[in-house]
Amino acid sequence: MVGLESYEGPATIEKVASLCRRRGFVYPSSDIYGGLGSSYDFGHYGVLLNQNVKAEWQRSMIFEREDVVALDSSIILNPKVWVASGHVGGFSDPLVDCRTCKLRFRADHIDTSACGRRPSKHPGETPDCDLTDPRDFNLMFETFIGPVREDASRAFLRPETAQGIFINFKNVTSSLRVKPPFGIAQIGKSFRNEITPGNFLFRVREFEQMEMEFFVPPAEADEWYRFWVEARLSWHLGLGLRPSHLRVRAHDAAELSHYSSATSDLEYLHPIGWTELEGIANRGDFDLSAHAEHSGTKLEWIGHEERYVPHVIEPALGVGRAVLAFLVDAYDEEEVAGEQRIVLRLHPRLAPVKVAVLPLIGKDEGLVGKARPLYEELRRVMSTEYDDSASIGKRYRRQDEIGTPWALTIDHQTLEDDTITIRDRDSLAQERIPIVGARALLEDRLEQPWHPRK
Ligand code: GAP
Repeated sequence: MVGLESYEGPATIEKVASLCRRRGFVYPSSDIYGGLGSSYDFGHYGVLLNQNVKAEWQRSMIFEREDVVALDSSIILNPKVWVASGHVGGFSDPLVDCRTCKLRFRADHIDTSACGRRPSKHPGETPDCDLTDPRDFNLMFETFIGPVREDASRAFLRPETAQGIFINFKNVTSSLRVKPPFGIAQIGKSFRNEITPGNFLFRVREFEQMEMEFFVPPAEADEWYRFWVEARLSWHLGLGLRPSHLRVRAHDAAELSHYSSATSDLEYLHPIGWTELEGIANRGDFDLSAHAEHSGTKLEWIGHEERYVPHVIEPALGVGRAVLAFLVDAYDEEEVAGEQRIVLRLHPRLAPVKVAVLPLIGKDEGLVGKARPLYEELRRVMSTEYDDSASIGKRYRRQDEIGTPWALTIDHQTLEDDTITIRDRDSLAQERIPIVGARALLEDRLEQPWHPRK
């Protein structure tokens, strides 16, 4: 897939963050106490959008397949898990401090970091820069189990959900009807003490991951790796990400993690450039073998005539990172009748609200008498909003900014012939339809493919 050289479009991370705050998607965390750097709380529409992204992931990973089962493992695991996985010894970033500006940088990101004193320069480039040698900084958050703060009670908040899956391999294979190739999928919070969080939801210290470990016979690993790269690419495209803003980039040998024999990133073209959206890794038998060795429990597949340690293919995606890409991709500005319109052209299945029911005049009892029953009927089957405040124009603009694909307006003609108008967020076309058919029409539209822009 050929991607663009650089981002061209109306979105910036700042504009998207500002819309998210203004419209109740995402707030800076601990705001009234001055915030907590790069931490965010999700408001009503953010919660709904997150849920829709997770539901789409579960739908394609679990419900539309017969070979993937679900899991929800603990955030705090036996600390030995992180020794076996290599996180205690190796989950670190190289860190340098500048003694002059007192800022801290990732040694491997110096070329893209800005020096604290001269924003046009990179750290180390001005005569005043005084950088320390790189030292390793472990990214795991530590905590203590029980009342005594001693080494024996030290534990970690998980930095990835994947290890909870590997350590349950035996439980799952002995309790459920699974047989390689099969997968275990999990969505949950992960924590990383990132040195340089930033760019809104892109890199944060507390985030949700959607990870699936797919266990396969070793000889089939390459084939399944290629399958999952394509499948994950299709998922993002099917939910509306523009093809020209999405590409697959294979890691070269120097970039590969200690556990991986092949990894590809799906990269998204943000206003900040091409960045990792999702990783798909061929982890080989590294994890099952490491946990078998450290725990003393055999983690292998035993069939009628075969016995082997499965290899693992892992697609891993951050919920917030996906949400940010969908928001940036959907963000649009245009001029309509001399006024600027901001609109989120989200895929209808991702949109937090599917339809708004708007009586033309909120205080007109006749209109309300038609609008409320319609609203009550629709909200039973899809996320629906009723809004009778302000002018109709303002109400449309509000729905455009939260990405509601359709608005139903009840006007005086409704009282005469029981028809309403349906307004399309993207084309702005308005059609008259019978009120009795509204629910079926919307349910049908939600099932239709939605065509993203180029
Ligand atoms: N189990 C493999 C694993 O965790 P990763 O590439 O470190 O691999 C997987 O993380 C995905 O999790 C990333 O592609 C990204 O979408 C998301 N992710 C990782 N660190 C993140 C952070 N600090 N903030 C937000 N999302 C993050």
